[in-house]
Amino acid sequence: MKNSILSSLLILIAFLSMEGCYYDNEEDLYPIDPNSICDTVDVSYSVTVKAILEANCVSCHTGNFPSGNQLLDNYQSVADIANTGKLYGVISHQDRFTAMPPSQVKINACDIDKIKSWIDAGARDN
Ligand code: HEC
Repeated sequence: MKNSILSSLLILIAFLSMEGCYYDNEEDLYPIDPNSICDTVDVSYSVTVKAILEANCVSCHTGNFPSGNQLLDNYQSVADIANTGKLYGVISHQDRFTAMPPSQVKINACDIDKIKSWIDAGARDN
């Protein structure tokens, strides 16, 4: 009889301490979403920057009469615009530049960070 009370107590204590761990450990409950981390290491033109520009900019900045006379459909031209500070200026909506895209809604923050990282690393044809 004494034994079974004791073992019920032990089971209860074990159960409570397990619960404690379970609730204390927030990271197990809500693991960090990998999509919420912005990877700005070794950003490449050919894989990343080109795709961001194609999705958000190239529709207006290509062909014989690109908007604002700015071509964004080839590496050399993008690098030239990047090296004057214009590319980052327009996407981050700095005062001295015309905000792009013209809709006034910035492209997503991670894409801006990636482009900045690429420019800061020398706007290479990588
Ligand atoms: C809907 C068409 C459209 C889209 C999309 C668009 N642009 Fe533009 N862009 C324009 C027009 C029009 C101008 C000329 C605006 C002016 O001179 O006032 C311009 C001008 C520019 C300029 C020159 C600005 C300056 O201050 O000299 C740059 C650089 C530029 N765009 C980059 C981009 C980038 C980068 C994107 C994508 C994030 C983008 N644009 C998306 C239409 C567009």
